[in-house]
Amino acid sequence: FWFLLGRRRRQKGEPPLENGFLPYLGCALQFGANPLEFLREKQKKHGHIFTCRVAGKYIHFLTDPFSYHSLIRHGKHLDWKKFHFATSAKAFGHGSIDPAEGNTTENFHQTFIRTLQGNALDDLIKAMMENLQDVMLQSRTSKLQFNAWITEGLYTFCCQEFDRIFPALVAGLPIHLFKSAHSAREKLGEALLHKNLLKRNNLSELVTLRMFLNDTLSTFDDMEKAKTHVAVLWASQANTIPATFWSLFYLLKNPEAMRAATKEVQSILESAGEKISLDGKHISLNRKQLDNMPVLDSIIKEAMRLSSASMTFRVAKEDFTLHLENDFYNIRKDDIVALYPQLLHFDPEIYADPLTFKYDRYLNENGEEKTDFYRNGRKLKYYYMPFGTGIAKCPGRLFAVHEIKQFLVLVFSYFEIELVDNNVQCPSLDQSRAGLGILQPSNDIDFRYRLKCL
Ligand code: HEM
Repeated sequence: FWFLLGRRRRQKGEPPLENGFLPYLGCALQFGANPLEFLREKQKKHGHIFTCRVAGKYIHFLTDPFSYHSLIRHGKHLDWKKFHFATSAKAFGHGSIDPAEGNTTENFHQTFIRTLQGNALDDLIKAMMENLQDVMLQSRTSKLQFNAWITEGLYTFCCQEFDRIFPALVAGLPIHLFKSAHSAREKLGEALLHKNLLKRNNLSELVTLRMFLNDTLSTFDDMEKAKTHVAVLWASQANTIPATFWSLFYLLKNPEAMRAATKEVQSILESAGEKISLDGKHISLNRKQLDNMPVLDSIIKEAMRLSSASMTFRVAKEDFTLHLENDFYNIRKDDIVALYPQLLHFDPEIYADPLTFKYDRYLNENGEEKTDFYRNGRKLKYYYMPFGTGIAKCPGRLFAVHEIKQFLVLVFSYFEIELVDNNVQCPSLDQSRAGLGILQPSNDIDFRYRLKCL
C-alpha cells in the first residue's frame, strides 16, 4: 500500500518520518508556505531530527545546533557538490560542470577560494571602492542636480528580471516559461562572452582565471563558457543585494544604530586621513581599515540574521549511520541531510527577543566582536550561519561583508538619506526564496536622498 502511494515506511533505526498527505509532493506545500513554522511544528512533535518527504525526496532535518558538526564529521558519506552543480546547470543553461561528466576538469571550489580570498581580496576591495563611487557620483550629473531630494524604492533599483524567477528554476520549471527572464539571461550571457570580457579594463582575478580555465580545461562552446560566468555573477549578487537592502533599512529605521554607525565611519575616515569632497577625489579605505569597524560588522550581521533563510544540503552517497551528539540514525543512499539555520537565528534562547533588530547584538562590553552565545547553558560553536557551513561555505563571504560596509560608508559620506515615512512597518520576508539565501522584502520601501553640502 505504501509502495503504491510512492511513500516509504520508517525502518528501525531511522528518524521519525513525515510522509505528508499529497502524492509525490509530500510536505512540499506546507514547507514552501512557511518553512520556519513547518519545521518548528515538526521539531515540537518529533524532537531534534525528523525526515520529511518533499517533492519525492526524503530530507532529514537536523535541528539541534550541537549536532550540526556531524554534517562535517560525516563528510565522506555526504556529497555537497552534485546538488550545486545540477542546480547551476539547470538555472544558467550551461552543460554539466561536474568533472565526473567530462565537460571540464576545473575545480570550481579551488578557483573561488583562490580568487575571492587572501591577496585577491585586497584587489577586489580596491576596485569595489572605485566602482561604487563612480556609480554613486556619476548619477549626480543626471538625477542629483540642485541638491534636490530624490525619492525611490529602496529595493527597486536592485531588482533583476532573471533573479525574480530563480526559485522557480531551482524547483525545475523550464526557463522558456519565463520569457523576459529568459531574454535577460541570454543578454547577460552575450555580455559575458569571452570576446566581450576581453574589451573590459581591470578584470578581476576571478574572471581572468575562470576565462583561462574555461579555455584550457573545458570543452564548452563560447555561450556555455559565458553562462558559467553568468552563474558566478548571480552568486555574487543574489544575496549581497538583499543583505545590503536590509542593512540600510534597519539603519534608517533605528536612529541609535545610525548614530553609532556614523560615528564609527567618521572616526575611521579621520584616522585614515580621508576627506570627503565632491571635487573628483575618491575616498579610499583599505581592507585593514574596513576590518576595524565592529559596529558596522554587528549591524550587517544582525540584518542578515533577521533575513537569512539559507539551507545546507548534503546528499547521502551510500547507506550509512549518522552519529549525532547522543544518538545515531540510519540514513539511506540518495537521501538528503539538511540544516535550516533560521531555526537557530530565531531561537529566543540564543537570541533574546529574536524578531527585534538590535544593532549591538554582536558586540561585547568592550565594543569588540561578540562570539559567545549559549543554549541550555552551553556555549555554541554554530550561532550565525547565513553563509552556510563546512566545505561548501560561501567563498565570497569576506568580500560580501566588505562590499556592504563600503557601500554604507560611502552612502553616509556623500548623502543625506532618510525614510519617507519614519513609522513605516518593517516589510515581511518574501518566502519564495526560502532555502536559497537572504530573503527579499515582500514590499518595497520609499526613501529619499540628496547630496550633502560638502
Ligand atoms: C555559495 C551565501 C555573497 C560567491 C554560497 C552559499 C551560501 C552563500 C549560503 C552556499 C553554501 C552551502 O551550500 O553550504 C552568501 C551570502 C552572501 C554571499 C549570504 C552575501 C551577503 C557572495 C559573493 C560571492 C559569492 C559576493 C562572489 C563574489 C559564492 C559562490 C558559491 C557561494 C561562488 C558557490 C560555492 C561552491 O559551490 O563552491 N553563498 N553568499 N557569494 N557563494 Fe555566496
